[in-house]
Amino acid sequence: MRILTQLDEWRSATADARLARQSVGLVPTMGALHEGHRSLVAAARAECDVVVVTIFVNPRQFSNSTDLATYPRELEHDAELCDEWGVDLLVVPSLEEMWPDPVLTSVHVGALSEHLEGVGRPGHFDGVASVVTKLFVVNGPCRAYFGEKDFQQLAVVRQLTRDLGFDVTIVACPIVRDEEGLALSSRNARLSASSRDSALGLSRTLRRVAAASGLSAGAARELMVTSLAEAQVETAYAEIVSNETLTPLGDDEAAIGRAVIAGFVDGVRLLDNGPVGK
Ligand code: PAF
Repeated sequence: MRILTQLDEWRSATADARLARQSVGLVPTMGALHEGHRSLVAAARAECDVVVVTIFVNPRQFSNSTDLATYPRELEHDAELCDEWGVDLLVVPSLEEMWPDPVLTSVHVGALSEHLEGVGRPGHFDGVASVVTKLFVVNGPCRAYFGEKDFQQLAVVRQLTRDLGFDVTIVACPIVRDEEGLALSSRNARLSASSRDSALGLSRTLRRVAAASGLSAGAARELMVTSLAEAQVETAYAEIVSNETLTPLGDDEAAIGRAVIAGFVDGVRLLDNGPVGK
């Protein structure tokens, strides 16, 4: 595995691969790698000749400085994992390399980025869209792998890919859960044993709402809020949204789409989602 820190080296490595008629798979990450990332790499490994993983903790997508400061950073261990998983190129750009001062350009993906996560984390999706745009520009044509756990991020990335005409195929990979159902996230490392019990309330809530058939979106929302409160999760939002536009369904509409929830457990922000209805 080659470890690259310069964008130019990365740009030429993937260009050389394509010249040699090799397909390129890109797995963008912020590090603190776990089994969820392993599943993205495995999907890329199965489908592409050259697998690229990027690790960059992108400050522009953090709306809270404590969250940025405490975001887990485990580069040495991450590099060992990438090697073990069969990654070909590990790209670890510095902040100066990625965002040389001053940065004046920002990518905003309209309405799709303004609700749900966009409400509690203003500017978050501008940061995500801007960094993903840069990763796509430098990496060049590829298949790019994103997890469904960040369901809104996936929709934002799909939209910007279409809007800006990138020659990138977005591949969505299913959520990976631990044995008790908790969706894997780098933030889980911050959960204490007791807050982990509360965190399990997110996936339990999704199972409950998926099992309750024939609900209206309003009733489904109530069920989710009650179930999250029972688990002592401080709910940020709990919505049934359309799969395509991610618009929350009206109270009287049938609860058919995606249940998306976000909540705080002991100050740690957790997300989860799952299908509801047909
Ligand atoms: O999902 C993530 O880890 C990040 O939001 C991403 C896509 C790597 C952009 O920084």
